[in-house]
Amino acid sequence: GAPDTRTPTGAETGVPKIAKGQQGAYLTTANGARLRDTDHSLKAGPRGPVLLQDHHLREKITHFDHERIPERVVHARGAGAHGTFVANGAAEKVTRAGFLKQGRETPVFVRFSTVLGSRGSADTVRDTRGFATKFYTDEGTFDLVGNNMPVFFIQDAIKFPDVIHAGKPHPDREIPQAQSAHDTFWDFVSLHTEAQHHTIWNMSDRGIPRSYRTMEGFGVHTFRLVDEAGATVLAKFHWKPKLGVHSLTWEEAQMISGMDPDFHRRDLYDAIEAGAFPEWELGIQVFPDTPEETFAGIDLLDPTKIVPEELAPVQAIGTLTLNKTPRNFFAETEQVAFHVGHLPPGIDVTNDPLMQGRLFSYVDTQLTRLGGPNFTQIPINRPHADVNDMLRDGFHQHAVHAGVAPYRPNSLDGGNPFPAGDREHAFVDTPVTVAEAPKVRAAPASFDDHYSQVRLFWQSMSPVEKEHIIRAYTFELGKCYHQAIKERQLQCLANVDPVLCEQVATGLGLPVPQPTVPLAEVQPSPALSQVGREWPAD
Ligand code: HEM
Repeated sequence: GAPDTRTPTGAETGVPKIAKGQQGAYLTTANGARLRDTDHSLKAGPRGPVLLQDHHLREKITHFDHERIPERVVHARGAGAHGTFVANGAAEKVTRAGFLKQGRETPVFVRFSTVLGSRGSADTVRDTRGFATKFYTDEGTFDLVGNNMPVFFIQDAIKFPDVIHAGKPHPDREIPQAQSAHDTFWDFVSLHTEAQHHTIWNMSDRGIPRSYRTMEGFGVHTFRLVDEAGATVLAKFHWKPKLGVHSLTWEEAQMISGMDPDFHRRDLYDAIEAGAFPEWELGIQVFPDTPEETFAGIDLLDPTKIVPEELAPVQAIGTLTLNKTPRNFFAETEQVAFHVGHLPPGIDVTNDPLMQGRLFSYVDTQLTRLGGPNFTQIPINRPHADVNDMLRDGFHQHAVHAGVAPYRPNSLDGGNPFPAGDREHAFVDTPVTVAEAPKVRAAPASFDDHYSQVRLFWQSMSPVEKEHIIRAYTFELGKCYHQAIKERQLQCLANVDPVLCEQVATGLGLPVPQPTVPLAEVQPSPALSQVGREWPAD
C-alpha cells in the first residue's frame, strides 16, 4: 500500500515515514552533510594515529556500537508479515467491535515465533510457537497474542518466570536451546502437574510444525465479548490455516535444524514473495457468560483446559491473508510490540489469572526492550486510529504535542474529548460483579484436575500420532541426567494412560509406576485429532 505519511498524532505530513534515513542519492552523515570518503579515518599523516576529531568515524562506530537491542525475554526468534483481515460479519451478533462487522477490511501485522530459543536459534526445534496478530482497527489496535497450542503450561502468571527459567538453557552450561531436553524442564512439569497438558501437545506432532503457514493459532484465554446493547458472552479465538495443519517428522526437524536453521522464516518469506499468500480463518467458540464461568463442567478461566469443538463448534468470523513481507526486519518484526491489553471496544478480558498477569507483563518488558515509554510511536506500532492522549515527553519522544493543558477537563485547550454519544464508540470496561471473598493466594478447586484433558488428548490421537508421542517422550526424557526426574515424569504418564507410560518406561529402561489418580475413562473422541486438519468444503 501507499506509505504512511502521518505523524504519531495522526497529522498528515506528506513525507513517507520509513524513507527518512535513506533519502537522496549521496551518502551523508546522520545530519545530512554529504561525505566524500567513508573508508579511511582521519589520521596525522597516512601512517599516523587516528584523530579524535574524526566526527564521521566516531558517529559511524558509535552508532554501530549501539545497534543491538535486547532480544525478547521469551519468543526471541520470530518472523513476521503484513496482511489484511476481512470480517464475514458472523461476530456482529456477539460483539460491537467495528472491525468484525461484515465486509470490514483491516490491515494486520503477524509475528510467528518459537518460545525458548534465542534470536539466532533454529526454527524447527520442538517448542510451542507464538502466533501474534496486530489488527490496526480504526477503533484502536487489537492484539491477539496467541500460540499454536490451545493450552498453557501454568494457571497463574506468578509462575511464568519459573516455567521460563526451567525451559531456558541451564544457567551453568547454557545448553540446550530446544525446549524439552533437559532436567529443569522435566523437573518443573513433573512437579507442577498442571503443565502436563501443554507438555503432551509439545510431545505431539504439534511441537514441530512443517511451516508457519500450516499452524493453527489460539488466543488460549477465554475473552468476554460485548455487543451494542452491552450484553456479553465468553469466547475463545481460533485461527485455522486453509492449508490444513501439518507437521515435520522428528527426523526431518532435526536434519533441517542443521541444514537450514531458517527453514520457517524462509518458507514464509518465499511463499509470500511467490504470491502463495497464506490464509487463516479466524473463528470463535462462544459460551454463555454465566456467574460460574464454566461450560460443560470445564472452568473457562483455567488456561490449561480446552473446550472440545464437539461441544462448542468454532464459528468462522473472518479471513486473514498475509500478502506482504517486511521491508526491514528490525524496524518491523523486531520492534513490533504486542500486548494482551490492546483491546478495541467490544472485546474485554476475563479473570483468568494467567491473562491478568500478562496484562502487566508485556508493556513492562517493552519499556526495557524498546528503550522507554514511547514505543507506540515506532512505525510498526503506530495505531491507525487517531491518537489523542495525555502522555507526554520521555525518551524517544517523536510527537510534537500541541496545546498547553494535558489534563481533562481543562479550560485552555478547548474542545470536548468526551462528546455526547461517545459511549457508543469508547471502550467501556464491562461492569462484571466481583465476588465478595477474602483475599487469598489460592486457586479454585476446579483447577486441580491436571490429567483428564491430557488423557482426552492422548485418546484422540491416531496410532501413528501416538507412536510419535511415545518416541518424543522417550527421546526427550532420555536426555535428563537425573533418574529421579525421569521417574517422576513416568509417574505423571501413569496418571494419563497405562500404555503411554509403559511404552516410555520401556524405552527408558525404567520400571512402570502405578497411577496415583483414578483413570476415569474419557469418552474417546476420534474427531478431535481431525480438528483443523482439513478445512471443510464450503
Ligand atoms: C511474548 C504468547 C503467557 C510474558 C509473547 C509472544 C507471544 C506470546 C506470541 C511473542 C510476541 C511477539 O511476537 O513479539 C503467550 C501466550 C501465553 C503467554 C499465548 C499464554 C496463554 C505469558 C505470560 C507472561 C508472558 C503468563 C508473563 C506473565 C511475555 C513477555 C513477552 C512475551 C514478557 C515478550 C514481549 C516483548 O518483548 O515484546 N507471548 N504468552 N507471556 N510474553 Fe507471552
